[in-house]
Amino acid sequence: MTPATIVRFARRYTFSASHRLHVDHLSTEANRAAFGKCNNPHGHGHNYVVQVMIAGPVDPATGMVLNMAALDSVVSRTVLDRFDHQNLNHDPLFAAQTSTTENLCREIFHLLAPLLQPVLLRSVRVEETENNFFEYSETIPALSAA
Ligand code: NI
Repeated sequence: MTPATIVRFARRYTFSASHRLHVDHLSTEANRAAFGKCNNPHGHGHNYVVQVMIAGPVDPATGMVLNMAALDSVVSRTVLDRFDHQNLNHDPLFAAQTSTTENLCREIFHLLAPLLQPVLLRSVRVEETENNFFEYSETIPALSAA
């Protein structure tokens, strides 16, 4: 039997949201030192770009890893409807952790991963600005081998 061909497939989504980087138990000065203008009490917004990458065998019947419309539906329901035009700090996911894009990226991964089986959610990448992005995946072979 020939091994299944595994192909990675990624798709981009966008949403806009506001947030404020702030840790309640730190002083005003410590918050300002840690987060700079991102600690502004009035918050600020980002046009986030989310890249969802999945991996799986190519279905010999369709030639696809996953139906794109099915992926869109899951991401819309789970991520875009939840975060678009919202204040991230008001979401329960950020009640006990800062709404940094590091944390956002990991939370989006954990929201999506169980809903995409049997295909594997390979990684979630979130671009916060045109100059920085964050990426999360459950296994980073180069690091786990160290
Ligand atoms: Ni920000």
